[in-house]
Amino acid sequence: MATTKLSAPTSHWIGGVRPLNLRSSLRPEIRQVAATIRSGPYTEELVHTAKSIASPGRGILAIDESNATCGKRLSSIGLENTEANRQAYRQLLLTTPGLGEYISGAILFEETLYQSTTYGEKFVDCLRREKIVPGIKVDKGLVPLPGSNNESWCQGLDGLASRCAEYYKQGARFAKWRTVVSIPCGPSALAVKEAAWGLARYAAIAQDNGLVPIVEPEILLDGDHAIERTLEVAENVWAEVFFYLAQNSVVFEGILLKPSMVTPGAEHKEKASPETIAKYTLTMLKRRVPPAVPGIMFLSGGQSEVEATLNLNAMNQSTNPWHVSFSYARALQNTVLKTWQGQPENVEAAQKALLIRAKANSVAQLGRYSSQGEAEEAKKGMFQKGYTY
Ligand code: 13P
Repeated sequence: MATTKLSAPTSHWIGGVRPLNLRSSLRPEIRQVAATIRSGPYTEELVHTAKSIASPGRGILAIDESNATCGKRLSSIGLENTEANRQAYRQLLLTTPGLGEYISGAILFEETLYQSTTYGEKFVDCLRREKIVPGIKVDKGLVPLPGSNNESWCQGLDGLASRCAEYYKQGARFAKWRTVVSIPCGPSALAVKEAAWGLARYAAIAQDNGLVPIVEPEILLDGDHAIERTLEVAENVWAEVFFYLAQNSVVFEGILLKPSMVTPGAEHKEKASPETIAKYTLTMLKRRVPPAVPGIMFLSGGQSEVEATLNLNAMNQSTNPWHVSFSYARALQNTVLKTWQGQPENVEAAQKALLIRAKANSVAQLGRYSSQGEAEEAKKGMFQKGYTY
């Protein structure tokens, strides 16, 4: 990996987030960091984008459900899976006034990245107005992994460089690639290696095209195993992921992680407290994740909205080497959907519900959350066996 001074960046920056006079306006610590790592046309921008997403009291809203999964969300409130209904739902979420106070990034599905509101404003511009960085899901989903123990692998590397370049032009500044590891299925050494290698290739390609890669090897909640077993698997998975990230010369200062929390399997006889989950999760992260990584943005994985917030809060009771925050889909959307019910007259109430959840997680990111007064609906778990995204 060459260590050189950087040439002037060629890219333009995200509206609202990026100042115009780039080099002089970068915070000195970002300039210093960028000057000591692998040079590339986007290095400074990657470091800046990752830092701005990992900013205090903010996290990521994940609404990058594939059309099929978005259809499941819509059918849960009796709506058909049409482009117009997906647009209406995403419009509700992305035009919530004041969202940028708690949300620093939003992960979109390709359809949404190119879509506009019903009144003609691009969704990307709605986000920029709130100083929220637009992101894009770039993987092509999971398929069976031959030769494994009924496990899967994640597709999407073919043509990824040109897709990332197009997404950048469209306004995206970060990307997400979700692959999964199943504890009840092994995991086999083959499945772990494949997951780690795929994530590393994707991360290198995303960075080469100006997108901060979110690295997400989701360890599924499925199974009746104890928390110690999850810790063992998570340590193994993250060791391989970082081994291959380094082999692929990925700039650690310009990535974000999206891990599962270390919990017992969903069917284990005992539930763990937020304090226990925080202890195991932070132990795993401290053993495996270099402090050069700016942000750890957890997925919710089927936990209830309140559980996900309590666990995040517990992890922020101590000072951590990285920004420890959220990148939730289900744990930010459940109450919103139930409140909306597809009715235009409920949009305002549903947006308020989103702000309540976003604010709760923002407060949890700062370690100051209490679950007092939370609604019963927000305490309902959302785990589903064999969930696909
Ligand atoms: P959940 O928070 O629903 O587990 O979302 C997973 C995900 O990868 C969203 O981008």
